[in-house]
Amino acid sequence: MSRPLLVFLLLTSLACARTPPRAPVAAAPQLPAPAESPTLAEAAKGAQLFQKYCALCHGKLAEGYAADNAPSMVSRTFRETATTEFLRTSIARGRPGTAMAAYAQEVGGPLSATDIDCIIGYTRRIAPPQPAPPTVALLETKGFGAVGRGQTLYMTHCASCHGWSTQRGTALHLFNPQLLASVKDSFLRYAIQNGRPGTKMEPWTGKLTPQQIDDVIAYLRSMATSVPPSPPVPWHAPLPVAPTTTAFAAPPLGLESAPVLTGPIVINPNGKQADLKMKDERIVPMQEVADALKNKRRIVIVDARAPSDFLRLHVTGAVSVPYYDPKELDKIPNDGTWVIAYCACPHHASGVIVDELRKRQFKNTAVLDEGIFAWQHAKHPVVEAPQQAPTPAPPPPVAPPAHVPK
Ligand code: HEC
Ligand code: HEC
Repeated sequence: MSRPLLVFLLLTSLACARTPPRAPVAAAPQLPAPAESPTLAEAAKGAQLFQKYCALCHGKLAEGYAADNAPSMVSRTFRETATTEFLRTSIARGRPGTAMAAYAQEVGGPLSATDIDCIIGYTRRIAPPQPAPPTVALLETKGFGAVGRGQTLYMTHCASCHGWSTQRGTALHLFNPQLLASVKDSFLRYAIQNGRPGTKMEPWTGKLTPQQIDDVIAYLRSMATSVPPSPPVPWHAPLPVAPTTTAFAAPPLGLESAPVLTGPIVINPNGKQADLKMKDERIVPMQEVADALKNKRRIVIVDARAPSDFLRLHVTGAVSVPYYDPKELDKIPNDGTWVIAYCACPHHASGVIVDELRKRQFKNTAVLDEGIFAWQHAKHPVVEAPQQAPTPAPPPPVAPPAHVPK
């Protein structure tokens, strides 16, 4: 284990000093937010939270690329331009339609505002922000980019990695409405000009003129759509009198926001057992699961993502047991019924759940191949919250890991 991480993990018995968030007391001087200048205790708390919730995809030291091409949070140019506000929004609201969940409690995630600030504080401790060089590079665009030219340039130079509006590539999705709503042109321009050192994102200065970079930005801006609304969180609001499709009740007070399963867990409880064939003793193809549902077979489907993502979109009949809170799995009948886990990344969070099920001696467990977005694009049954943006097609399939890295 690397030294900075070890240092923080050793300190993890210390709690975040400021919970709940600072109350607005009239004359009291404002304490700096933990995100800006974290104390050691806050950064230690952030380290703990980061390992539990984020390391799965972003890596233990936020270096990125542990799963689903989750970007680095410590590259030099990212540190130079990612403001606290940008980081807060990115973590709280996620990037709907990608593997990046919304982690804020008010939208169904597990983290309070202080937790999020502690995480930001931790990433700042391991990789302090760099002062961005005060060059014209950071001046806002005057809106002189030409959309048509930008589109041609984008498709020629960028689409191979970043995909396009309806198709994700292997690099983060630049058309994401939540991203475009929270970044300034200067952030985009700086990333394009200087790249992201240590990643596949190369600097484009010298390869594209400043005008061409403005054209690409104008094109991206022209593709921005409004941010889809976050669905209401049933366990934060009074439950409807006649429960609809939701399988959740409010969690007892004081618990994390993970929903408690109370509704039907088994799909087709009176049906014959599903009969599924796995690849590599771990992965089950989407079509097998779709057929089992169509043929009314007995099966359990677990959504391994944060509940905020579950509320936006889930496989019809699935129950929510997030990768970071597997104890709810004990409520699933352990009687040989197939339990299939899925996520968006597309095999890591679900892989954690399958490992947890196998630890509990469940006999028939597997990861759903390709994940929720491929399932949705194949038009298999889903429940979707109203007014969601169309999900871009997932990137070309990746080879699933035989074993999820711990
Ligand atoms: C299941 C995988 C996964 C987990 C877990 C996850 N992320 Fe992400 N994150 C992603 C992906 C993928 C993206 C890029 C989204 C895209 O493709 O557009 C991302 C994007 C981000 C970004 C925006 C970066 C940028 O350059 O725009 C931040 C910040 C971030 N994640 C922080 C976090 C934090 C903090 C946590 C833990 C609370 C976390 N993520 C958990 C997968 C994940
Ligand atoms: C070889 C693949 C590749 C190509 C080609 C590429 N990028 Fe990237 N780009 C990436 C990766 C990977 C990242 C994320 C790096 C990280 O921070 O981990 C990225 C990050 C970015 C970011 C930062 C986004 C954020 O939220 O942090 C912007 C903006 C961007 N690219 C724009 C472009 C544009 C515009 C082009 C074309 C001129 C382009 N890229 C070409 C791979 C690529």
